[in-house]
Amino acid sequence: MRTELKRGFNLLVLGIETSCDETAAAIVDGERRILIDRVLSQTEEHRPFGGVVPEIAARSHLDHIDRLIMEALDQTGLKLADLDAVAATCGPGLIGGVMVGATMGKAIALAARKPFIAVNHLEGHALTPRLTDNIAFPYLLLLASGGHAQILAVLGVGQYRRLGTTIDDAMGEAFDKVAKMVGLGHPGGPRVERSAADGNPRRFDLPRPLKGRPGCDFSFSGLKNAVRLAVEAQPRPLSGQDQADICASFQQAVTDSVAERAGNAIALFKRDWPQGTHLVVAGGVAANAKLRQTLSDLAQANAMTFLAPPLSLCTDNGAMIAWAGIERFRLGLTDGLDFAPRPRWPLDPNATKFSP
Ligand code: KG4
Ligand code: ZN
Repeated sequence: MRTELKRGFNLLVLGIETSCDETAAAIVDGERRILIDRVLSQTEEHRPFGGVVPEIAARSHLDHIDRLIMEALDQTGLKLADLDAVAATCGPGLIGGVMVGATMGKAIALAARKPFIAVNHLEGHALTPRLTDNIAFPYLLLLASGGHAQILAVLGVGQYRRLGTTIDDAMGEAFDKVAKMVGLGHPGGPRVERSAADGNPRRFDLPRPLKGRPGCDFSFSGLKNAVRLAVEAQPRPLSGQDQADICASFQQAVTDSVAERAGNAIALFKRDWPQGTHLVVAGGVAANAKLRQTLSDLAQANAMTFLAPPLSLCTDNGAMIAWAGIERFRLGLTDGLDFAPRPRWPLDPNATKFSP
C-alpha cells in the first residue's frame, strides 16, 4: 500500500507551520495534491486574554506538533522514508513558536536523512494561488493577515517587489482591535464580519486612510481611532445594532481604502509587468467576503482576473508551507540545519522602509 502510494505521488513534501496561533502539518505532492492538511487552532487557549499570547502559543505548538505530524503520516499511510523533503516555517512570526516548528522540521529531516527547506511564512501565503490554481508569474498580490498588509508583485519563487505596506497597523490587527473595542472579543476578524452583516455601513462616517495620496501604502491607525471615538459616543453597553453598524461602517472604510490603494498598485503593476494578468489576495483577512468582492470588482474594472484561495488555505495552514517547499525544492533551494529562525523576514529585502 505504502509503496503504491509513494509510486503514485511525485515529490512528497511535509510542511510544518507554527508561526502564530495555528499548529499545522500537511503533506502535498508535486501535482498540487494536498494529501492531508491538519490544522489545530489555539483560539480557545488565547480567548481569555483577548489576543495571542506568545508564550502560550509556543507551549501549545510544542504540545501538539509531533502528534499532528504522526497523524498526517498515519492517515496517508506514508512513512518518513517516503518523503522527498521537509519544509518548516522559519519566520517571520512569534519567535518561540517559529523555533518549535523549525526545530521539529530539522530534527525530522536529520533523522530521516531528507533535505530541509526553511520557508518564509509570507512566501507560503504568496505562492498559495499556484497551489490552488497553477497561475503563472508575475501576479499582483495583496497580503492581508494578522501581522501584515502588503501589496507585492510576485515575480518568481523568492522574487518579490513590494509596492506598498502598512505604515502602522496590519489589516487583520485592525479588525482584531475593532472587535475588542466593540466587545466582540477574540478572534476579531470573523466576528466583525459576522456582526457587519446585520449593520448599516453608512451610519458612521469613518475616514478612508491615505485617500487621494499617491503610492500603495496602507494605514489603519487613524481609522481605528475614529472607531474608538464612535464607540465612546454610544451609550454603554453597546446594543447589538450599534455593534453591527460600527462593524459594517469599519469594514466599508477598510475595503474602500484597500480598493483605492490596490487601484494604484494595479496601475504600477501594469506599467512594469504588462504580461501579468492576475490580482490575488492571500492571508487570513482574505477570508473576508466583502474584501473579496471589492477586489473582484476592482480586478474586473481593470481587465484582470481575480483569485482568492479557498478559506481553509487563506488562514494559516501547513499545505502552503509544504507547497512553498516544493517550489523551492524544484529550484534546488534547500537549507542547512543551521538555518536560524527569525522573527522578521521581509519578502522583498530591498524594501526597507516599513518592512515587516
Ligand atoms: O494569515 P493569518 O491566519 O495569520 C497571520 O499570519 O497573521 O491571519 C489572521 C488574521 C487575524 O487578524 C484575523 O482576525 C484575520 O486574519 N481574519 C479576518 C477574517 N478571518 C480572519 N479578518 C477579516 N475578516 C475575516 N473573515
Ligand atoms: Zn499567515
